[in-house]
Amino acid sequence: MIGDLLRLDGRTVVVAGAGGGGIGTAVCAAAAELGANVVGLDVDRAALADAEAAVADTGAAAPFRGVVADVRVKDEVDAAVADAVAAFGSVDGLVHVVGGQRPRHWQPADDFPLADLDEVLDLNLRSALLTSQAAARAMTTAGQGGSIVHIASVAAFFAAPFSLAYSAAKAALISLTRTTAAEWGPRNIRVNAVATGTIRTPHSRGNDAADQARDAVLALRRRGTPRELAGAVMFLLSDLAGFVTGQTLTVDGGSTIRPSYLGPDDVPVFMEDGDLRRRLLQQ
Ligand SMILES: NC(=O)c1ccc[n+]([C@@H]2O[C@H](COP(=O)([O-])OP(=O)(O)OC[C@H]3O[C@@H](n4cnc5c(N)ncnc54)[C@H](O)[C@@H]3O)[C@@H](O)[C@H]2O)c1
Repeated sequence: MIGDLLRLDGRTVVVAGAGGGGIGTAVCAAAAELGANVVGLDVDRAALADAEAAVADTGAAAPFRGVVADVRVKDEVDAAVADAVAAFGSVDGLVHVVGGQRPRHWQPADDFPLADLDEVLDLNLRSALLTSQAAARAMTTAGQGGSIVHIASVAAFFAAPFSLAYSAAKAALISLTRTTAAEWGPRNIRVNAVATGTIRTPHSRGNDAADQARDAVLALRRRGTPRELAGAVMFLLSDLAGFVTGQTLTVDGGSTIRPSYLGPDDVPVFMEDGDLRRRLLQQ
C-alpha cells in the first residue's frame, strides 16, 4: 500500500530544536506516531519536557529520548548523535528546526552590525551544517542512507528590508540543502528543506487586528499549525519522497503565490474601473 511508505517504524529520527511546543515538538510527535524512535535535542532542558509530553500523548511505543545540546557547538552535536546511535543503533533521519532571529537583529542594512550577522548565521546556517554533517557521518557508517530535512523560511525568497541576516541565512540554508544533496546522494542520503510561512506557535502573537490583517494576505486566510508543517516534514523524511532530494517544499498557506498588488479582496489595487470591480466582487 502506498500509505505504508509513510511509516517510519524502527527508524531513528533526530530532531534539533525539539522543545517549545512549536514546529520541533510537532515533528517529534508526528515521527513517533509513524513508528520512529525520536531523539530530541534542545539547549533548554525544560523545553524538552514539551516534546516528551507530546510524544507520550501519541501513545507511541518507543519512548522519547531527550538530549540537552547547543547545536551551535560541534562537540555537543557530535555527542548527541553518538548518543542516538548508541541508544538505537542508527540515525535514519534528521530534522533541523533550530533557527530564527531576535528583535535586536532587525537593523537597517547601512550599518548592519557584523557581530549580529555572525550570530544569526551561526544559529541558522552553521548549526544546520554541524547537525547534518554528524547525521550524514552516522548514516554513511551504517550504510543505509537516510533523510535530512531543514526548516527554512519563505523569507529566503524575497527582499527582506531590516532583516538582512535572517533572510540571507535561510537562502544559504537552501543552497546548503542542494549542495549536500548532490554530494551525499550517491550514499542514498536525501537532503531537502521546507520553506515555512507563518506558523502559529506558542511564541507567536495573538489574534488582534494586526494579526488578522497579516492573515488576510495568505491565500488560505490563516496561519498554519505546527502539525501541518510536520506533515510536510514527514513526507520528506519518509520513503514516499524516496526520489526527492535537493528540493525546497514551500508550506505557507499560499503567501508566496500572492503578488503584492492584490488588495485584501483579491482584486488588484490598481483596478480603477468601479463597475468591473463591483462585478468581480458580486460572486
Ligand atoms: N514559527 C514561524 O512562523 C516560522 C516561520 C518561518 C520559519 N520558521 C522557522 O522555524 C524554526 C523555529 O520553529 P519554532 O518557532 O516552532 O521554534 P522555536 O523558536 O520555538 O524553537 C524551538 C526550540 O529550539 C530550541 N533552540 C534554540 N536555540 C537552540 C540551540 N542553539 N541549540 C539547541 N536548541 C535550540 C529552543 O530552546 C526551542 O525549544 C526556525 O528555523 C525558524 O526560522 C518559523
